[in-house]
Amino acid sequence: MAEFDPSASLEIRAAQALEFGQTQVRGLITQSPDFFPLYTEEGKWQHGRAAWTNWCEGFLGGMMWIFARRGEDVYWRERAEHYSRLIEDRQHDTEVHDLGFVFWSTWKRWFNLTGDEAIQARVIQAGRTMGQRFNDKGKFLRSFVAADSCFIDIMMNVGIVFYAANETGDEDLLRKAREHCLTTRKFLVRGDGSTAHEGIFDLQSGEFLRQTTHQGWRSDSSWARGLTWALYGFGTAYHLSGDERFLDTAEQCADFFIARSPSHGVPPNDWDEPSPRLPVESSAAAIAASGLLQLASLTGDQTRKTMYDTYARTILDTLLTTEFLAVDTPEWEGILKHGSYHERLDLGVDESVMWGEYFFVEALDKLLGAPAAS
Ligand code: GLY
Ligand code: GLY
Repeated sequence: MAEFDPSASLEIRAAQALEFGQTQVRGLITQSPDFFPLYTEEGKWQHGRAAWTNWCEGFLGGMMWIFARRGEDVYWRERAEHYSRLIEDRQHDTEVHDLGFVFWSTWKRWFNLTGDEAIQARVIQAGRTMGQRFNDKGKFLRSFVAADSCFIDIMMNVGIVFYAANETGDEDLLRKAREHCLTTRKFLVRGDGSTAHEGIFDLQSGEFLRQTTHQGWRSDSSWARGLTWALYGFGTAYHLSGDERFLDTAEQCADFFIARSPSHGVPPNDWDEPSPRLPVESSAAAIAASGLLQLASLTGDQTRKTMYDTYARTILDTLLTTEFLAVDTPEWEGILKHGSYHERLDLGVDESVMWGEYFFVEALDKLLGAPAAS
């Protein structure tokens, strides 16, 4: 068991948690080689439960790339390349809206380390494949569920479309990425900075019809993880486009997150639900921490910069306790406890979830000095 000192400074606990993370990931890939789990069941990764959709296959390799870069470690480098190659064909996958999640965490990190254009070509292809989801009438990238559906989650995947367009000088692809962000900003982000999970459009006219949800409490409520996808994703969209409107939206989402979350920084699954099943959803907190560290590095406003940086540290201070870090929970195979995937379908509730693990590791890496914007 990796050592963890709950009374140590934030930075020391972060470094210890990254050591613990390596122990847990090594345990998973030793016990279940080439397996890509989404969530644990009573703390165990390997089980026969449903996935709903295949969007998490980059996060395991993504953590390996972070471990490899931090430690210049041959074991992690070799495993990271292996786990990235296992998902290489997904660059052509038109079934999901998640190729940003899949390739930004893996092949993009690989390219960052090597500058190898053959590696970069996979990232660009994934961005082009995502571009095929564009609906010209409604001006949005469609979700995996239906042609008339736009998810807030897609904001975390539009970055790779901007990237592919920028790297290849493809103006039409750039337009699609920009219009998706403008559509999302207009119809899925509300005046108070909260977000809807899904928008439904009329396919004939392109008219926006209504907001709805799959993973939140109800159509007009605020699913916390969806908002963190927007907070982080609009920041990335600004970083890759320079369009100030996207920075403005990211800041509105961040301000809503801070205003509505408890003082410890970990929100429930949905802020509006009167009697939530659980008081906390740790993966939203981990995504917010990483997204806020990015936003602090992007905003030109010194007051906001300090606020976002301070709040990210508050979140991590909470997650770096044994209430959340599984370091002394016997036989728990994940890193971060108290995450939830899909409460309505009863999938992965109060468990470790693979994106929670990844964005927690990413946030700790940033806290300890890795570039905050990507
Ligand atoms: N991002 C995968 C999903 O929305 O289910
Ligand atoms: N639908 C992807 C997620 O659970 O955030």
